[in-house]
Amino acid sequence: MRITLGVTGGVAAYKAAELVRLLQKDGFSVQVVMTRGAREFVTPLTFAALSGQKVITDLFGDSSGGEANLESAIEHIAVAQRTDLLLVAPATADILAKFARGIADDFLTTLHLASTAPVVMAPAMNVNMWNHAATQENVEKLRARGVKIVDPDEGYLACGMTGAGRLAGQNAIVAAVRETLKSQRDLDGETVLITAGPTREDLDPVRYISNRSSGKMGYAVAEAAARRGAKVILVSGPVNLEVPAGVERIDVRTAREMHNAVVDRFAHASIAIFAAAVADYRPVEPHTEKIKKSYAALTISLEPTTDILAEVAKNKGQRIVVGFAAETDRVAENARKKLSAKNADLIVANDVTAEGAGFDQDTNIVTLFSRDGRDLALPKLTKNEVAQRILDEVLRLRGVLHGTAEAKRSRV
Ligand code: PMT
Repeated sequence: MRITLGVTGGVAAYKAAELVRLLQKDGFSVQVVMTRGAREFVTPLTFAALSGQKVITDLFGDSSGGEANLESAIEHIAVAQRTDLLLVAPATADILAKFARGIADDFLTTLHLASTAPVVMAPAMNVNMWNHAATQENVEKLRARGVKIVDPDEGYLACGMTGAGRLAGQNAIVAAVRETLKSQRDLDGETVLITAGPTREDLDPVRYISNRSSGKMGYAVAEAAARRGAKVILVSGPVNLEVPAGVERIDVRTAREMHNAVVDRFAHASIAIFAAAVADYRPVEPHTEKIKKSYAALTISLEPTTDILAEVAKNKGQRIVVGFAAETDRVAENARKKLSAKNADLIVANDVTAEGAGFDQDTNIVTLFSRDGRDLALPKLTKNEVAQRILDEVLRLRGVLHGTAEAKRSRV
C-alpha cells in the first residue's frame, strides 16, 4: 500500500518525520510531498533519508536551471495513480482552504485534484485559526466530500496559546489511515468480471471493422474495483493501456473471442460490468487473401455477433450485471430498453456525441439507470470518478435487490 504524505508549513512539520517511520513500520511505502511552507521548517533531506525516496517539492521539478522539464510537469499524474491514500499532516488552514476550493497551485494541491485516492488530513494550527468560521466551513465541506479529518488535540500550542490546534497523536493518525483504507475495501471477497475496449472483425488478412473505443472507461472500472479489494478479471479488446495493478487481463481481438472469454469466467464472478464496445456485426466470411482494389462497388455481407451481455445475463442468478449504452439520441429511452432487453441490473448510458463524453476521452457524462427505477444523472467527471460511482451504485443496488450480506455469501 502506498501512502503519499503531504507535509505543509507549520511548526508541527517536524512531527511528520516520526509519522513516516510509524507508517513504514506498519508496512506502508511512503512518498513525501512538501510544500514551500513546510521547507521553511524541515529540510527535504530529513524525509528523503527516512522514507528512502526522493521528496517531491515542486510542480515543475527543480527549475533552478531555468527550464522546467516535461517529466516533472506530469509527475503529479504518475504519483496520483500510484497513491492508495493521500495523508496531509500537519495540515495548515491554508491547505484545508485550498483542498476545499479545489485550488491547484503547487504539487500537493494539483496531486489532490488528480488523485481518486481517499484523503486523510490532520490539521495543526493556532487555536483561533482552527476555530475561525472560515476554517470550520472548509473542514465541514471536506468532511461532506468524504475526507477523514483527524481533529487536532487540545493543549499548549507553539504560539503560546492554549486550546485545540495541536497535531493529533501519531498513533491516532496512523489508526485513521488504517481505518480509512479498510472502509475503502468494500469489494473484498468479490470477483468482478469486466469487458473493455473495442473488438476487431476481420475483412481480410490486413483490414478489419472496429470502433473508436480506447478502453479507458473499462480500465478505469477495473482499476477502481481492484483498489476496492476485488479480484478483477478484465477481458480486453486491443487497446494501448497498461494493465492496472492487481488486475488479471485476458486479451481478445474479436467479438467471438470476447464471448468465449466471458462465458468461461462468468460463473466465477459476483459482479459483471460490460464496458466494451463489441462489434454488432462481423463479415460472414473474411477473405483469406487481401481484397484487391477495383473501381467497382464492393459489397460485404455481415452477420450479427452474439450479444455477450444479453446471453450471459439470462442465467445471472444473484450476480449484479452492468451494461453500458453508447447512444447518440434518445439516451434515456434507449438505455431503459437495453436494461430490460438484456436483463441487466444497471445501464450506464453515455451520449457519445456530447463534448467530454464517450470514446477516447478522459472524462465521461453518464446517467445510471437501475433496475429498482432509480435514474442517477452524473455531471462531467473523470472516467476514474465515474468508475467509483458505478461501483457505489452496484453495491447500493445489490443491497436493495438481494440484501448485501446474504448476497455476498450466496453468489449465484
Ligand atoms: O473505451 P472508451 O474510449 O473509454 O469509451 C467508452 C465507451 C464509449 C466505449 C463506453 O462508455 C461505452 O459506452 N461502452 C459500451 C459501448 C457499446 O457497445 O454500447 P452498446 O449500446 O452498443 O451495447 C450495449 C451493451 O451491450 C454494452 O454493455 C456492450 O458491452 C454490450 N454488448 C454489445 C454488443 C455485443 N455483441 N455484446 C455485448 O456484450
